[in-house]
Formats: sequence, structure tokens, C-alpha cells
Amino acid sequence: MSDAPENEITPEAVNAAVDAALEAIAAASDSAALKAARTAHTAEGSPLARLNASLRSVPNERKAEFGQLVGQARGRVTQALAAREEEIVAAETAARLEAERVDITAITSRTRVGARHPLTLLQEQIGDIFVGMGWEIAEGPELEHEWYNFDALNFDVDHPARQMQDTFFVDPVARHLVMRTHTSPVQMRSMLERDLPIYVVCPGRVYRTDEFDATHLPVFSQFEGLVVDKGITMAHLKGTLDHIARMLFGPEAKTRFRANFFPFTEPSAELDLWHPTFKGGARWIEWGGCGMVNPNVLRAAGIDPEEYSGFAFGMGIERTLMFRSDVQDMRDMAEGDVRFSEQFGMVV
Ligand code: PHE
Repeated sequence: MSDAPENEITPEAVNAAVDAALEAIAAASDSAALKAARTAHTAEGSPLARLNASLRSVPNERKAEFGQLVGQARGRVTQALAAREEEIVAAETAARLEAERVDITAITSRTRVGARHPLTLLQEQIGDIFVGMGWEIAEGPELEHEWYNFDALNFDVDHPARQMQDTFFVDPVARHLVMRTHTSPVQMRSMLERDLPIYVVCPGRVYRTDEFDATHLPVFSQFEGLVVDKGITMAHLKGTLDHIARMLFGPEAKTRFRANFFPFTEPSAELDLWHPTFKGGARWIEWGGCGMVNPNVLRAAGIDPEEYSGFAFGMGIERTLMFRSDVQDMRDMAEGDVRFSEQFGMVV
């Protein structure tokens, strides 16, 4: 049994202190545990610190030997602490990065931004062209009275366009309401509502009992133009249409008339467009109908045809979009798939 005083420096005591320290350091699994091990095994009051303090009472001739023993022991513990600290910091950093990781390939819940429909964009662009000429935008109802849609436009009671197979009549039939088959009823509404002279364009939706296929839609859009003023001639109509064609299809675009019949214009013409950038080569394509406002229509609106004359035209907006943007199938314009609309960009 040894009566050596407490903290007497012996190789056994030093090794025991070092072993205890290394064991605690190895067992520390995080920064907090390592800090506790550092305090317990190196700070003041720890076995190694006390052994170090006892160096003072070692006889001079053995000071170097014991000093080296304790110094090396403290060095090993310090090194072990540093090495373990490095490991723990690396592990903790890795764990934090993992926890904070953002999966950039993940599907997010963000609401997708839609796209404006190309028909809306084109309709606005057409409106802008006319507003640029000083015209006004006119509107009328899509559920229209038969009188505006047909009678006021000089259609005979037995005109084929009035038949059930072309027109959506709305129940009860005795009320004479139809889904307008063209934007032309806005001609009469404008003449009754507005003061002369009249320069209006009316873009809007129209309805016909057509098939739903690549070139027909039962619901489609037209833009109607109407001018009533003193001294208006067919030359004004032609000049206006050529201007619109150039604005929509480029400087080489032009129009031509082919004789035709509409009850509400006289003379009437089918309107062809020379489309210089048509895919597959420049060509003439049928674009719409037009003519000089029939005197009967002016009279029905209370306008004296001896004093005033006018012209009118109507074009399909879907057809215009097809020609302009090389859309092959009109159904794409009706189905509402945002991937179709996105191709036209966000041009306003
Ligand atoms: N409303 C006619 C149609 O839909 C087109 C047209 C408009 C013809 C104006 C002449 C004048 O076919």
C-alpha cells in the first residue's frame, strides 16, 4: 500500500489520467460532450492539471524527467481533443447541410402563371389598329333579337341563313332570340345609338350550328367594321381594308374583291387577302365579306341614303390568327390548353 501523497507524479498516475481523458474524448459524440470532456480532463482541478501543479514539489533532480512525462501527457490529450473536434465539426456541418438541403428538382406547389389567349391578344391588336385611325370600338349582345340579326339587315323572312340548321334559336322561339350568327347586328345598333358620322369596329363572338373541326367552330369571333358618312365610296372601303391587311400581314399585303351577295350591302364582295408570308408561298386566301351599306339598312336606321352612304365589312378572327401564326387546327383555339397560348408570349 502506498503512502504517496495525493497527486504524486508517477508514470501510472499520468497514464491513468491520459487514458481517462482519451476515453472521454473518444466517447464525445457532439460539440457539447467534447466541451464537457475538455473541462473535465484539462481544466483546473482535472487530474492532469493537478499533476502538473505538483511539479512544483518534485525534487529538482527529477524535475526534467517528470516535467517531460506530464508535458507529453498533456500534449497527447490536446491533440486528441483537436482531432476529435475536427471530426465532430465535419459531422455536424454535414448533418446541417443535409437538413437544410433544397431539392431543386422537386415539384413545387407554386401556382403556374397562365398566358393570355392569342385570340384575345389579336382582338386587342385589331382594336388598336382601328383606334389608331380614330374609330371607336362598338359592342352588342351575343344573345340577340332576330330583328337585329336578320330583319334590320334586309334578310328575307325565308332567307336560308335563318333556318334552324344554321342558327341557334333560343327557347321559347316565340321571343325571337338567337345567338347572333355574325357581328353585323352591331351595325344597326350603332346606327340607332350613335350620332353621324359613324366609324366603328366591333370585335366579338358569334355562333353558328357548324361542325367542330379543324376549320370550323360553332362559336367563333369576327370583327365588324362600319362607316357611315357623307360621300363614302367603295374606294374608301378598299383603302381601309388594304391598310388593315398591311397592319396585320406586313407591307406587301393587299386585298381584292370578288362579287358576292349579302342582303345588307350593295354592292357586296367577298374579300380575299394577299398573304405574302403564307407558309408554303404567298397566295390569295378568302378573308371575309364586305360591301356598301344597303340603302334599305340606312333607311331602317332612319338615315337618309341620299345624304349619307357607308361601307361595312366582317372578318373571322380565328381565320386571321390561322393565317398570321400558321395555326393548322382551329380546335387548338377553343380547347384552352395553356401550352398553346404560351407560344404567343405575353405580348400585350
Ligand atoms: N356578316 C357577314 C358574314 O358573317 C360578313 C359581312 C359583314 C359582309 C359586313 C358584308 C358586310 O359572313
